[in-house]
Amino acid sequence: MAVSRTGERPRVVLGVSGGIAAYKACELLRRLTESGHDVTVVPTASALEFVGAPTWAALSGKPVATDVWTDVHEVPHVRIGQSADLVVVAPATADLLAKAAHGLADDLLTNTLLTARCPVVLAPAMHTEMWEHPATAANVETLCGRGVVVVEPAEGRLTGKDTGKGRLPEPAEIFELAMEVLARGVAVPDLAGRRVVVSAGGTREYLDPVRFLGNRSSGLQGYALARAAAARGAEVTLVSANVTLPDPAGVKVVRVETTAQLRDEVVLAAGSADAVVMAAAPADFRPTTVSEAKIKKADDGSAPAIELEQNPDILKEISHDRQRPGAVVVGFAAETGDDTGDVLDLARAKLARKGCDLLVVNDVSGGAVFGSPDNEAVILAADGAAVEVPHGTKGALAHVVWDQVVARFAR
Ligand code: CTP
Repeated sequence: MAVSRTGERPRVVLGVSGGIAAYKACELLRRLTESGHDVTVVPTASALEFVGAPTWAALSGKPVATDVWTDVHEVPHVRIGQSADLVVVAPATADLLAKAAHGLADDLLTNTLLTARCPVVLAPAMHTEMWEHPATAANVETLCGRGVVVVEPAEGRLTGKDTGKGRLPEPAEIFELAMEVLARGVAVPDLAGRRVVVSAGGTREYLDPVRFLGNRSSGLQGYALARAAAARGAEVTLVSANVTLPDPAGVKVVRVETTAQLRDEVVLAAGSADAVVMAAAPADFRPTTVSEAKIKKADDGSAPAIELEQNPDILKEISHDRQRPGAVVVGFAAETGDDTGDVLDLARAKLARKGCDLLVVNDVSGGAVFGSPDNEAVILAADGAAVEVPHGTKGALAHVVWDQVVARFAR
């Protein structure tokens, strides 16, 4: 858990505005309090139509108010925002976004947003039409330009029979993102206004409708990179190959299976991206032919021969054929030393061969990183720099990777 500016329990303001997804904020609140945060819930009057004040008071252990006239002697409309280490509003309605963008302050939550100087996360939820309306889009742009982290809504079932973009992401994922933002503690995120692409997972190359060649990549490192970039304000596309992890909040997830599909989606997204991080493990080879029917076992005990052909090298392609000048391209290399050189010699040769700007090198001699929550690495740069990242979480490594990317944007 991060420590607050005052060394006490971090103070989190949970703003709740009036949408049906207000019920999901109860789960977010529970996660925030159970992980030791001092949470003040500030619902709007409309939010209380959906979930009543006793629920917020019981879950937070504090009284709640929506207007600026309660406990006036404590000046709550100023104090709550000033003393906060993080403000999260979930759900944020179109009305709340509009008020925040224009600095309106007609209740306790909007006053709190004006007085807060800490990081602010807004998690919108509304119908697709409202989200896509130019007025909402302009308000979101204004807020992002000011350093607010606006969590892109998820797609799926909305209120009633509608489906589309506008769902509040899962509370567990909003919590993870909020914790990343709180831990960084910077009011203006350094990837705001940047588009980034991250690939994750391992591809599958089919032999027939049920069998494939695959690998052990879990996707944990790629998902940590996507989550970290979203917390730093980036617009993130995560091209995910066969990963079973939940979608990180605010991240556009594109699902693929094969290396060819991964290549197409990464190349498409890279066209408008400021950075591409290839954390996926694409299969280097695929069967030359894919049998339409399940391959049968032969009676004579023989096994079929599998002929393979090479897959495209995506990292090499996007490094050499840069669609966007100045974009930073990052590769990962899982290496084991051999008699031609040690891990770093082989990695330097790979960095040059691939043509990327940064190569994150893992020594996988023991097979340790696959599926593990931890990692350690050396980040080699084409400009000769090398940054050692000690053993730590994949989330911590993700932030060092983004630090290196941001440093190269600045040049
Ligand atoms: N990669 C890629 N396309 C491929 C294979 C790998 O873009 N067909 C990317 C991976 O996402 C990773 C980097 O290349 O970022 C290094 O992967 P690695 O498997 O170590 O590279 P290979 O090219 O397979 O190197 P080797 O010659 O050691 O097999």
